[in-house]
Amino acid sequence: MTETSFQTLTLNIAGQTAEITINRPEKLNALSGQVLEDLRQAVSQIRENANLRAAIITGSGEKAFVAGADIAELSRLSGHEEGTAFAGNGQDVFNLIESSPRPFIAAVNGFALGGGCELALACHIRVCSENARFGQPEVNLGIIPGYGGTQRLTRVVGRSYAADLILTGRMIGAQEALAQGLVSRVLPPAELMAAAREIATAIAGKAPLAITSAIEAITMGIEEPIESGLDREAQLFGRLVTTSDFREGTGAFLEKRQAKFAGE
Ligand code: COA
Repeated sequence: MTETSFQTLTLNIAGQTAEITINRPEKLNALSGQVLEDLRQAVSQIRENANLRAAIITGSGEKAFVAGADIAELSRLSGHEEGTAFAGNGQDVFNLIESSPRPFIAAVNGFALGGGCELALACHIRVCSENARFGQPEVNLGIIPGYGGTQRLTRVVGRSYAADLILTGRMIGAQEALAQGLVSRVLPPAELMAAAREIATAIAGKAPLAITSAIEAITMGIEEPIESGLDREAQLFGRLVTTSDFREGTGAFLEKRQAKFAGE
């Protein structure tokens, strides 16, 4: 295992999976400018490391995943341009996660509020502990979600429920998040990381080009009319049948053995 320490987070790489742990528990892992910069670096390293197959993002401590943008920093914003750039910076970092060829799994271990909820939404899969709390409380501060929340929450849970959360700023628990499709699994706190690692390891055993294509088909497809999304799906499918991993996967099934994928 290799561990790289950034000012505000750690990046652990074990085998083919990476783990980012945001490490500001005394401020409930709030996203300061430094956390965003460190996230940008860590996510870029994961994107560039072709040996990796999946990554997990979590928060340190037992209380919070990420309790939002750092309100002390936020409170100093004034001009229109400055505010726009502030939102754009967070959006850029989260876009790097969403557009990664390798999937990111959010392991939400407590409060995921504001930018924390938006960070989880930029990940491809979200699992949470029973004590997780989600919300977009920006309207309490006189702003709206600025790191993608108005767009990604709406795409994940639908317009009506997204408006309920964003307009009221209310917090919801893990079971409601599960019922609304905001997360796909809820675990006892002690089992959360093991479950996230199990998902990462399962993905790591699949054909890497198929995983990357599936992410592209899902993420891009939802942005376009169904005809284009279906065309994209067919094109990606067509490309995959030319890969040696396709020969290996189908051959292994027919020969009743475990497939070994090379990512080619
Ligand atoms: N930005 C900066 N600091 C934050 C923070 C944030 N988003 N969320 C929590 N903190 C800090 C608190 O100021 C406090 O710091 P202090 O000990 O130096 O005073 C510390 O983290 C612990 O938080 P505290 O509020 O004492 O914990 P709590 O258990 O009473 O409440 C929350 C937990 C999550 C309900 C509460 O911290 C909260 O509402 N946070 C802000 C959530 C939010 O609005 N996020 C969206 C921002 S756009």
